[in-house]
Amino acid sequence: MSTAPNSTLITNIAEVFTADATQSVIRDAAILVEGENIAWIGPLADAPEADIVIDAGHRAALPGWVDSHTHLVFAGDRSQEFVARMAGQDYAAGGIAVTTAATTAASDYDLTRLVMGRAAEALAGGTTYLETKTGYGLSVEEEARHARIASTVADQVTFLGAHLVPAGMDAQEYTDMVCGEMLERVAPYVQFADVFCERGAFNEAQSRQVLEACAKAGLGLRVHGNQLGPGPGTLLAVEFGAKSVDHVNYLDDADVTALAGSWKGWDAATRTGTAGTVATCLPACDLSTRQPLAPGRELIDAGVQIALASNCNPGTSYTSSMAFCVATAVLQMRLSIEEAITAATYGGALALGVQDRVGSLEVGKRADIQLLNAPSVAHLAYRPGMNLTGPVFRAGVLAAG
Ligand code: NIG
Repeated sequence: MSTAPNSTLITNIAEVFTADATQSVIRDAAILVEGENIAWIGPLADAPEADIVIDAGHRAALPGWVDSHTHLVFAGDRSQEFVARMAGQDYAAGGIAVTTAATTAASDYDLTRLVMGRAAEALAGGTTYLETKTGYGLSVEEEARHARIASTVADQVTFLGAHLVPAGMDAQEYTDMVCGEMLERVAPYVQFADVFCERGAFNEAQSRQVLEACAKAGLGLRVHGNQLGPGPGTLLAVEFGAKSVDHVNYLDDADVTALAGSWKGWDAATRTGTAGTVATCLPACDLSTRQPLAPGRELIDAGVQIALASNCNPGTSYTSSMAFCVATAVLQMRLSIEEAITAATYGGALALGVQDRVGSLEVGKRADIQLLNAPSVAHLAYRPGMNLTGPVFRAGVLAAG
């Protein structure tokens, strides 16, 4: 079979885990890339010819990670808060204000460099599609600046002006500002909006106001919910048709039932139909804040689509390692390796609404492929903490490794 110009054959792959609907594993495989996209995947013996051949060295291949929850726009350091937490202090949302002060003091140049550096670290770790949020600005000017900087680096930006009520400001007055002038200034740079619906942050009425205003502005929605205790975040996310509710540490039966109900119009076997609200589990954050792990196993068993994301931020989860999240989900949340990888790739893509383009290795999708310095994807959990990321391809181009 001859192929179009600019084709690359990645050959000698020990196994490919595609994260497609059938959860295919192809051993002794090859992948043909044409331009930005995957043109063919199959057994090496049947591989077509190509302009360029890259020998994968008997490594395993899988989709690049889709990290659907990060807070990369920040300056400063909160390691002392972390040390205090390890010594027994509880996590409190108030630490966000510390980061806001340090970030506000950073110049555009410094802040951009910091965000770019973090995105480069994520890419080197296999992340080929990256969401990030505002939320450390907490004023109209700063939120707009953070959104603008984020939009130059990340694939998707989420507006999280409703992260914390700044000290000295009335909660309702601030919520009105988020829904008014701030939203207007930030909207050109963002695709989604989020609200931290939690004690110490925004209550149900305020969260509802934010979600209504942002939906009206045409933004997709997500919610930080049920992170520090039971609360209305998950039910609100489902009610508003949010693409995801993130954290989900403290769910009750009604929350799980509502999440599962949101997926009733989705056929998981064919991945067609109307997607519901993804429950995004953030295991690195759960460990760093010593919260109970999100119930990923129970959610999957209830028919809820889950995502795994890093939640990279300076307060609760200072890591962009999706491999660490996958290993933790297998070792601690009792997901299979295939479930965990799928949650960290296709699940993230669902949470961001880009599942038709990225998140699995399928013909026609973007060629976002990571090779592991290991012969099987099981090594991701079998050898936790090891840096197994090899060459990373993004849109068909060798981007790291
Ligand atoms: O997702 N939950 C709210 N926001 C971040 C933490 C922010 C911080 O403490 O800096 C999170 O965990």
